[in-house]
Amino acid sequence: MIKMELSDESSFKTRLTKLLSRSKLVKSIYFFENLDSTQDYANLLPHNDSLHGTLIIARTQKMGKGRIGRPWISPRGGLWMSIALVPDFSIDNLLFTQFIGALAVAEAIKETTKINCSLKWPNDVLINGKKVCGILVDVNLESEKKRIIMGIGLNANIESSLINNSINVDSKATSLKEEYGNDIDLAYITNSVVHKIEYYYDNLLRTGKTMEILDRWKQESDMFGKRAIIYDGTQKFSGEVVDLDNNGSLIMRLDDSSIKKIIYYSNFSFL
Ligand code: BTN
Repeated sequence: MIKMELSDESSFKTRLTKLLSRSKLVKSIYFFENLDSTQDYANLLPHNDSLHGTLIIARTQKMGKGRIGRPWISPRGGLWMSIALVPDFSIDNLLFTQFIGALAVAEAIKETTKINCSLKWPNDVLINGKKVCGILVDVNLESEKKRIIMGIGLNANIESSLINNSINVDSKATSLKEEYGNDIDLAYITNSVVHKIEYYYDNLLRTGKTMEILDRWKQESDMFGKRAIIYDGTQKFSGEVVDLDNNGSLIMRLDDSSIKKIIYYSNFSFL
């Protein structure tokens, strides 16, 4: 683990650019001191030949977006990034990009800090049961111009009280700095996240080996066997988390013993 000195902070952009110069995926990086949302910015990029692998990073976001329209608090010190992907594979596999994002972050955290994360379906990364990272995947399938924007919000070097004091968080938040006990080298962990996305995207998703992604995801999750409540639109279900099916849907055994596949949920909590 490379410890970050304060003076390194100013060279974040230079160091990350250098580290990512070996990436096969990332061809251009846009850095911003402040942006409303990297996700919104990426969603508006023109669809040309160089879109695939474009990375947008902001040091702070004024209007960061979380899932289901929630705000995402994005103070300085976090990793707020969106990456554009133009898939050349079947749209059946698109859902797996959310698993890739969460796996990439969990593995990058392990590599950087030795901390074991656990994954919460479909795309949260937790440390000690608290959320350290969320993934937001926007998919645009209009005409020929398929694009995926994968947004990653990692509470790296921030105070989690800034987030926990805000409204609209669905689980208690933590930060990497608080769990690790020290600042994290943001350029190093960003590079690691990007390389792991590249690995899963190229080696597994493009070749259709989605089972390997699911198996890896299951290994990193401790949800199975736990009791949970799911809000699916206006309906509420409670039961035990049993498995993921081959498409990545969550399988639950409800309290009346029936089996329910969850594709979409508006809120999820463990009992
Ligand atoms: C979630 O609700 O768990 C997903 C949060 C995703 C936040 C990231 S931060 C970078 C990117 N830009 C945004 O506005 N949102 C995503």
